[in-house]
Amino acid sequence: MPKVTINDKEVEVPAGTTILDAALDNEIKLDHNCGGNCACSTCHVIVLEGMENLSEMSEDEEDMLDSAVGLTLESRLACQCKVSGPIKIKIPEKKKI
Ligand code: FES
Repeated sequence: MPKVTINDKEVEVPAGTTILDAALDNEIKLDHNCGGNCACSTCHVIVLEGMENLSEMSEDEEDMLDSAVGLTLESRLACQCKVSGPIKIKIPEKKKI
């Protein structure tokens, strides 16, 4: 099973699990205001390692990601990417704007 490291916590999840589910199933707090429907950007995460082990980004994800706070080139929406191998991600701190 792929290893997913979220902030500093390491968990193992079945291949095909989304990062959002990996976090929630392991009691890691990750915002998901739209309930994982690619309709917000609160589940924004930054991929530190293993981008190649995530499912490809859809156009919908790309559009929605544009409104994420603190967007980086390594940003993804946690509810939209499925894990197929080891990855390491960071949940960005939420800044008030
Ligand atoms: S939870 Fe809303 S886009 Fe992921």
